[in-house]
Amino acid sequence: MSDLTEHVDAPGGVGAPIAGQSARPASRSGRVRAAPRDGSAASAGTSTTLDDPASAALPDGRTAPNALAAHTNDQPEVTSAPAAHGEVTGRSRVFAVANQKGGVGKTTTAVNLGAALADLGHRVLIVDLDPQGNASTGLGIDPRNFDYSMYDVLLHDVPIDDCIEPTNIKNLFLAPSTLDLAGAEIELVPALSREHRLRRALEPVRNDFRYIFIDCPPSLGLITLNALTAASEVLVPIQCEFYALEGVSQLTRNVELVRSNLNPTLAVTTIVLTMYDARTKLSDSVVQEVRLHFGDMVCQNVIPRTVRISEAPSFGEPITVHDPTSRGAIAYRELAKEVSGVSS
Ligand SMILES: Nc1ncnc2c1ncn2[C@@H]1O[C@H](COP(=O)(O)OP(=O)(O)OP(=O)(O)O)[C@@H](O)[C@H]1O
Ligand SMILES: [Mg+2]
Repeated sequence: MSDLTEHVDAPGGVGAPIAGQSARPASRSGRVRAAPRDGSAASAGTSTTLDDPASAALPDGRTAPNALAAHTNDQPEVTSAPAAHGEVTGRSRVFAVANQKGGVGKTTTAVNLGAALADLGHRVLIVDLDPQGNASTGLGIDPRNFDYSMYDVLLHDVPIDDCIEPTNIKNLFLAPSTLDLAGAEIELVPALSREHRLRRALEPVRNDFRYIFIDCPPSLGLITLNALTAASEVLVPIQCEFYALEGVSQLTRNVELVRSNLNPTLAVTTIVLTMYDARTKLSDSVVQEVRLHFGDMVCQNVIPRTVRISEAPSFGEPITVHDPTSRGAIAYRELAKEVSGVSS
């Protein structure tokens, strides 16, 4: 088998640490044993047909102009499997939430989509695989209070069950990350089965959850490679901003490499447009361009840019708790229905 790490970024580039976060967690056992997966069955999947860019439904009902090409220097080739978001498989769905571009809404989407799916009655696990630990703090969890983090799971073979914590939201669980994980990019290099560590770690709990979201760091290093190897699907958040598609072709190439070498069933199934601003033509252009390239992989529901979404993490709450009636909460709830195949 070819060495995939030849094809991924050099270690590093994982973003800035959180101020005040210490290297190792203090002791407190927060052990939780996962109960059997909820049996909630969703109705038949809704499929979106957006191949015709002219028919792309924008949140404000306007028609999107096709003008983004001038702003995107990196047009992705779509080589992954056909869209499957909204498909109900009856099995656990493991999403790698990935985009090596920073600040596009990976963590916000993992946390808020996860919380909205938990509200629908599904058991959901969020695996924080970013040393920044934003998914952990965004859910009000300070990893320093616990014995183990994902670093111990990946590097020291600690069972993931010992690291999973309940959150304040019913059905929503978190496997936290700490800054230690920044070193994992390098520490994993000589490790045995370095690409398969997360997949193996998740195996015992995989079927205890209907949805598992792995929040990746903004890089294509070994940590993201572990997420892609463990996942069944890739969810790519794309920000409705300049250079929205920058790097996405590199991500899809890596998904292809992982599919041919490590994880034959992996596919990009779900693309979520984030931070849509109805006041700007640029947002419309990005929506149009992304739908043109990715067709019905792109979720119908677009996440608006709102102050309430951006302030929710500082309260340690998902938007669905922070301001349940806000536009952002409604958008993530609708997205949860779309992803789980519930027709609204
Ligand atoms: N819909 C939104 N409206 C307003 N602000 C948002 C929205 N989505 C995300 N943000 C804000 O944008 C910033 C980046 O979002 P987020 O942390 O989710 O991105 P990310 O891709 O996980 O970043 P990183 O690559 O650093 O991990 C955060 O401050 C977040 O609160
Ligand atoms: Mg993040």
